[in-house]
Amino acid sequence: MRNANEANLTEAVLAKLEGAADPRFKQIMSSLIRHLHAFIRETELTEKEWITGIQFLTATGQQCDAKRQEFILLSDTLGVSMLVDAINHRKPGGATETTVLGPFYVSGAKDMPMWADIAGDAPGEPAYVSGQVLDVSGKPIAGAVLDVWQTDGEGYYDVQRPSGNEHYARGKFTTGADGRYGFRTIKPVSYPVPTDGPVGKMLLGMGRHPYRPAHVHVIATAPGYDRVATHLFVEGDEYLDSDAVFGVKHSLVVAFKNHPAGPAPDGRTSAVPFSTAAFDFRLVRS
Ligand code: BEZ
Ligand code: FE
Repeated sequence: MRNANEANLTEAVLAKLEGAADPRFKQIMSSLIRHLHAFIRETELTEKEWITGIQFLTATGQQCDAKRQEFILLSDTLGVSMLVDAINHRKPGGATETTVLGPFYVSGAKDMPMWADIAGDAPGEPAYVSGQVLDVSGKPIAGAVLDVWQTDGEGYYDVQRPSGNEHYARGKFTTGADGRYGFRTIKPVSYPVPTDGPVGKMLLGMGRHPYRPAHVHVIATAPGYDRVATHLFVEGDEYLDSDAVFGVKHSLVVAFKNHPAGPAPDGRTSAVPFSTAAFDFRLVRS
């Protein structure tokens, strides 16, 4: 191809896909090329802006390591992760909705018995979360596993602590015949997504805050049912309507009710005030 110009370049690049063996790869690349070219035409991107974009993507890659995935954060903050989630998890009414997984999931959390305390020594106000895992008709599911993780009461995940060796606010719970689960934890608090990298600068440039509303992460699995990666959001949180990663769904907002010191749901007596939250998970057959 010679004499590439504004008018013929897109078709010329698309023609280069003729030899692509994988039809899905061909479809994705063709769409990507068309949308990228349309974006450049629409914005009439200057060379300076083009190099700024290249530097931004380079810095995003350089920020990634075994513990930090800045590209996923970019995807999250641009609403891409939630769009992929929405397309891939179209659920019937009544089923527990999914939301973004986030970068702080660590596999291999400890199996814990009913009402175990996942908080350990982590700072924060005690909270008790309980309910049932059900199918969409309301029948309890035995043997469902809830893999739970969250920040401490200061808004940090264990893996964000400088020592790198902390382990708290994570646990796995398996339901019995009645589908019930319950655990003790810390009332989650809202926290900012990491802002010390290129995505933080992008949010600043867009005039956006970096906060996520307080939440508990849960992956619910059960044999024969679709896996659900979701959150329980704390009702009343100031960021519910402006989550930095667009993850909030109304059906996942849960009241954390305050109680004075005294009898707690785990059968013990709490020496300090605590809160309780109730949520039933409803899973769809695979
Ligand atoms: C989280 O909830 O852990 C999270 C999700 C997306 C980006 C950053 C954090
Ligand atoms: Fe989170």
